[in-house]
Amino acid sequence: MTEPIYLVAGARPNFIKLAPLVWVLHSRPSMPFQIIHTGQHYDRAMSQTFFEILNLPEPDINLEVGSGTQSFQTARILERFDGLLDEKSPSAVVVFGDVNSTLACSLAAAKRQIPVVHVEAGLRSFDRSMPEEINRLVTDTLSDLLLVSENSGMLHLHQEGIPDEKVRLVGNIMIDSLVRMQPKALERQTAVRLGVEPGQYALLTLHRPSNVDDPGTLSRLLDLFAELSQKIPFIFPVHPRTKKQIETLGYMPPADFHLVEPVDYLDSLCLQKQSKLVLTDSGGIQEETSCLGIPCLTLRKNTERPVTVELGTSTIVGNDEALIRETIEQVLAGRYKQGQPIPLWDGHTAGRVADSLQDLLQRI
Ligand code: UD1
Repeated sequence: MTEPIYLVAGARPNFIKLAPLVWVLHSRPSMPFQIIHTGQHYDRAMSQTFFEILNLPEPDINLEVGSGTQSFQTARILERFDGLLDEKSPSAVVVFGDVNSTLACSLAAAKRQIPVVHVEAGLRSFDRSMPEEINRLVTDTLSDLLLVSENSGMLHLHQEGIPDEKVRLVGNIMIDSLVRMQPKALERQTAVRLGVEPGQYALLTLHRPSNVDDPGTLSRLLDLFAELSQKIPFIFPVHPRTKKQIETLGYMPPADFHLVEPVDYLDSLCLQKQSKLVLTDSGGIQEETSCLGIPCLTLRKNTERPVTVELGTSTIVGNDEALIRETIEQVLAGRYKQGQPIPLWDGHTAGRVADSLQDLLQRI
């Protein structure tokens, strides 16, 4: 009997990348799989609702690691996933993106010489102060099959000396979820429910340590957005990490700066699509807005997803107040750039991922 493939997911963006592969593998009985949830994200709003909306089956195993410092969380996932591999050896381990679960599970599998497949390989911000950059570098070094979402990734892996035969450009798997779920998302009318007129608001998301962990940086950003909300109302679904910091600051937003609970995937797509512009430090939202044709101000100094700036609708604004104001003016005046389609972000990436995975399994 063929051993199952382990598909590993731990944090919110992982679930959106996992789902399209699960949908495709359902129709390939020769490739049995199990879903391993590490438990990195555990709140219902950060985890279970995504499984429900994306029609994912319950995870076969939940390692329930919970939160902690970067190393604590990574170590706990490593230990528990290794324990699982000790009981049963899968035919391959597929990891997604750049979160701590991605790094820990690829390391545990590689140490046991179980083939590692990395979906979303090759992205680089060249900024090692981001935990995700370290996760990407280590995971790619350890992977046996590296599946890449955009051309920059191919270039980086080549420059790092990863053999070309291990690498394939497959496109962006998250866009498969977007393509499938968008019609349902637009039925939501999320903005109306939140008391804001569709097309007439800015959507804000903020959760990177570089923006939210330092109280000075966070309060400067909040003050700026509060002021800008007099020009255009802001909707701000607040990530749990950011919420804790905002509570510590005792921050009180003005009326048109709407701080709301984290939204589910359909509400997120609906809010993006119906917004005038998005301000975000999320990697996934840079990609989604590019596909949806919505202007995106990326609140970071760099991006590991340069195609969203080159072809898509994103502009890197960091936390430069003048640049943020100026870019918003451009959008409001209708002078902002229009994006172009991005190669292979076509809703069919999961099929290419499954084909590459099948080739790998036939070779070993
Ligand atoms: C993680 C990923 C980041 C990704 C983000 C999406 C890493 C290094 N970072 O960041 O790349 O963009 O997920 O959300 O893996 N918390 C809860 N409930 C939860 C989960 C977290 O309250 O369900 C709180 C905890 O207090 C925790 C904090 O949020 O300490 C941060 O969670 P963590 O998983 O460490 O990182 P994220 O900031 O979510």
